[in-house]
Amino acid sequence: MKKLCEDIANAIGSAIRGYIGADSGERILYMGADGTPTAVIDDVAERAALHVLKDDGRPVRLVSEEMGNVVFGDNPEFTVVLDPLDGTYNALRGIPFYSVSIAIGNTDLSQIYYGYVKNLVTGDVYVAERDRGAYLNGKEIRVSTRKDTDPYCASIYGCAFTERNFLNRNGKKVRLLGSAALELCYVASKKTDAFIDARNRLRVTDVAAGKLIVEEAGGVVTDDFGAALSTPLAIKERVNIMASNGRIHDELLARLREWNK
Ligand code: IPD
Ligand code: CA
Repeated sequence: MKKLCEDIANAIGSAIRGYIGADSGERILYMGADGTPTAVIDDVAERAALHVLKDDGRPVRLVSEEMGNVVFGDNPEFTVVLDPLDGTYNALRGIPFYSVSIAIGNTDLSQIYYGYVKNLVTGDVYVAERDRGAYLNGKEIRVSTRKDTDPYCASIYGCAFTERNFLNRNGKKVRLLGSAALELCYVASKKTDAFIDARNRLRVTDVAAGKLIVEEAGGVVTDDFGAALSTPLAIKERVNIMASNGRIHDELLARLREWNK
């Protein structure tokens, strides 16, 4: 799996190079299967990934952001959940924070058994295998140990009162970086302590790999009400997510309920 993911990520990295920070990548080509417009850069990235998958030749069910759900070959044994370019806006504006996200699993988010996220700017690779831990560039990673009373840092999308209630309160910080897959990996590798997106906008392609990476690094991932995530691996599904180091999870859930009143 790792080799396949690496080949996909390398192909995408090369294919999009000329479009980073360039207006030419911004043109909208069609409406993607996920219900959002597909820009030239998204299309180029997805095509590069498809070439690699086809060359690989194994039968596969693919869930990809622009093409949606497609099957290659007969009786595929696994599903590849692919976001060829997570952080399209950043890539187009030349903001150096975007990634490729690949997860391997079966039918829903609870059954992902391999996750791979590559930061396409730095080349950092986050990998997790179910029950085998999470790794950054081959080195095991663990979530932070910060508690609610500590000055922690979270990415929080979709709460109207984030700023008033959270920012700079007791030294707590908010960072909104623009690639959900990579922001989940930041929780896994203790660069931040939590990631929340409660906008009803994320797709399984954005979070499938990052969810496993956080869990394998010792963190907790639920929906925005604290329930386990078992969203079907289908492109039309929308996901609300809360990922944290576990120690601040309950308190963040309580705050979210309060803020959203
Ligand atoms: C986007 C990124 C971003 C999130 C958006 C997503 P895309 O994915 O994950 O962080 O805030 O909601 O759409 O469109 O760049 O693949
Ligand atoms: Ca995405």
